[in-house]
Amino acid sequence: MSTPHLKARVAILISGRGSNMEAIAKAARGTDFPAKVALVLSNRPDAEGLKRAEKLGIKTAVLDHTQFTTREAFDGALHQVLLQEEIDFICLAGFMRLLTPGFVASWEGRIMNIHPSLLPSYKGLNAIEQAIEAGAKITGCTVHAVTADMDSGPIIGQCAVPVLAGDTPETLAKRIQAAEHRLYPQALWLVLSGQHLPAEEDEQLISF
Ligand code: GRF
Repeated sequence: MSTPHLKARVAILISGRGSNMEAIAKAARGTDFPAKVALVLSNRPDAEGLKRAEKLGIKTAVLDHTQFTTREAFDGALHQVLLQEEIDFICLAGFMRLLTPGFVASWEGRIMNIHPSLLPSYKGLNAIEQAIEAGAKITGCTVHAVTADMDSGPIIGQCAVPVLAGDTPETLAKRIQAAEHRLYPQALWLVLSGQHLPAEEDEQLISF
């Protein structure tokens, strides 16, 4: 009989709906998946994703950013919660807050994010609207390592999605989100199996 391998304890940070969180949590139920979702944390007490996590039987926490006077204080409290929960790895999934360079440095190599474009195109907010406005025929989603510069860390995986005639931000978002739900669990699996995030010089790309 083979020895069961140890699963990394993953925290998923959210601010809203939590559909990517749910996709990761469902993938992580598989016995071969190298992660367990140990915590879902939101900076917004009313995030829909908290209810979704509870339904999935996952421990949740709220750190309401309005209760902190500085970003450093919020990130310091976040760091403490993650240590208390013995978290090994962080997935940002619709977490609408910039993290301080100090926090990012503490978690370097152990934190990743999903963005709804093929980075480096359309960084920042409204990436889906940006793609439509630019007249792009192909956009997509990217899972990348988090560094101090927003949406700029090494790319772990990407999935291309067509922009169809007549697409609105809503119809395109739906298509991109379906791709995100496939990509994010795969990217997490890839990284945890390799036990490191790709450095710039040895980027791995998965796409489908
Ligand atoms: C996703 O489209 C992700 O790319 C972006 O925020 C959205 C989060 O959606 N960063 P959800 O909360 O996972 O449903």
